[in-house]
Amino acid sequence: MTTPAMKVLHVAAEVFPLVKTGGLADVVAALPVAQAQQGADVRLLLPGLPAILDQVSGLRCVIDIGACFGALRVRLLRARLPGDGLVVYVVEAPYLYKRGGNPYQNAHGEEWPDNLQRFALLGWIAAHLAAGDADPDWAPDVVHAHDWHAAMSCAYIADHAATPAASVYTVHNLAYQGLFPMHDWATLGLASRLMSPAGLEYHGQLSFMKAGLKFSDRVTTVSPSYAREISTIEFGCGLDGVVRSRAAQVRGILNGIDTAVWNPATDPAIAAVYDAARPDGKAACRRALQAEAGLDLDDAALVVAIVSRLTSQKGLDLVLAALPELLAQGVQFAIQGTGDAALESAFRAAQDQSPGRVQVFTGYDEARAHRLIAGADAIAVPSRFEPCGLTQLYGLRYGTLPIVRRVGGLADTVVDASAAAVAEDRATGFVFDVPSPQAFAQAVQRALEARRQPVLWARLRDRAMAQQHSWEGPAREYLALYDEALAPLRADGRAR
Ligand code: ADP
Ligand code: GLC
Repeated sequence: MTTPAMKVLHVAAEVFPLVKTGGLADVVAALPVAQAQQGADVRLLLPGLPAILDQVSGLRCVIDIGACFGALRVRLLRARLPGDGLVVYVVEAPYLYKRGGNPYQNAHGEEWPDNLQRFALLGWIAAHLAAGDADPDWAPDVVHAHDWHAAMSCAYIADHAATPAASVYTVHNLAYQGLFPMHDWATLGLASRLMSPAGLEYHGQLSFMKAGLKFSDRVTTVSPSYAREISTIEFGCGLDGVVRSRAAQVRGILNGIDTAVWNPATDPAIAAVYDAARPDGKAACRRALQAEAGLDLDDAALVVAIVSRLTSQKGLDLVLAALPELLAQGVQFAIQGTGDAALESAFRAAQDQSPGRVQVFTGYDEARAHRLIAGADAIAVPSRFEPCGLTQLYGLRYGTLPIVRRVGGLADTVVDASAAAVAEDRATGFVFDVPSPQAFAQAVQRALEARRQPVLWARLRDRAMAQQHSWEGPAREYLALYDEALAPLRADGRAR
């Protein structure tokens, strides 16, 4: 007799390539596929944003829910994702989800005023799927909720103690917490025992992040270092105490990357394909990038890429402050970023002051992100904090050496080119400690010097490209964690 496949429901607000504001979408696209390849029966639950409803196929209604959370018409639909064909549940609620902007904000960058309803509904439906009363044909053993947008799944599941499913909550970024006024409590329809500091209350507000941290069976974050960091005051964003209270259930599982989407040997977006054995194409990508970005066609320059949300998290003020000194030394910057208006205009001003040395592409452009990462010599990620970070992993795979701050997932994935690490053939990039323009500039200068030594540079690049960050290992770790989370339910006969 074969054991039935574990049924897993991932709950999230974005998935690449349908809707993406950051690395969360990349994770939600690739992790479920890797788990399905390992035999799990994996489905997704997503809000019915226009870009999602437009791009899935084979939509059919699973259940007509009627009016709830302020929406008159709510239906749960079932469909398939494009590409991998994974089954996806989509919450159709036009009043809540049918709008432009991104999943969290309007076109002016303001939070949607009804985010409480929009994301409580998502969690509430996850809990009904878990209870087995939303889809008569399928119910999950484990609900895996991602970030505060999906965190209410854990509270609604915990509110019905008899639910035969376990919940796992992944913190992709503790800084975004989903805080709402306490007077909206009644809208959630939760038992009053959850409305206290031991529950969702956070200094007089409602915290969706706390719902995930307190009521899931297991909490994960996206790197081992960030898992340690969030239990400290420095990185805990006010929730370090809550994190410490769940210490035995908190685990850091390093993100993987989609090695089919991010593969320099097959990438359709780049000027020439290449791999570690035949790296020549990378030089063509570098020339193409300099041409596209209007950078001087200078072979001696160190071309540094940045592909990033422009927020204070990412430490880009350090780059701006170090820029004049670095440009004078022969560094070029190609930046693709969107977000904070002040950062955008500061980078634009730098570009105007130094044509041929700095190019800033604002807006969101997936193909250009590939061209920058393939064409640059190095990629800078000087973050103040970084739960995992994906662009340094893309850089490693494309032989584009990461220049990163020693924090979070950056510390876990890049080995500094110290004399010892180089001698042991372990070095893959340049790491600095202090979040200061000087420390960043020194790391870039070390990269510039290393590039002037072709044998050393080739060795670092080979080592970087040899790093394995596919989802296979992390997907297995999550499946083992689900087993752990299910063990108590199985022990008392509550699991399916
Ligand atoms: P975060 O999720 O904090 O933004 P990550 O490094 O985990 O950081 O993921 C960022 C993802 O978003 C990567 O896939 C990166 O290539 C992509 N990205 C960020 N900004 C842009 C942009 N302006 N255009 C295209 N892709 C971008
Ligand atoms: C968050 C983090 C980033 C991480 C991504 C995917 O957006 O800021 O570090 O890589 O989630 O887990």
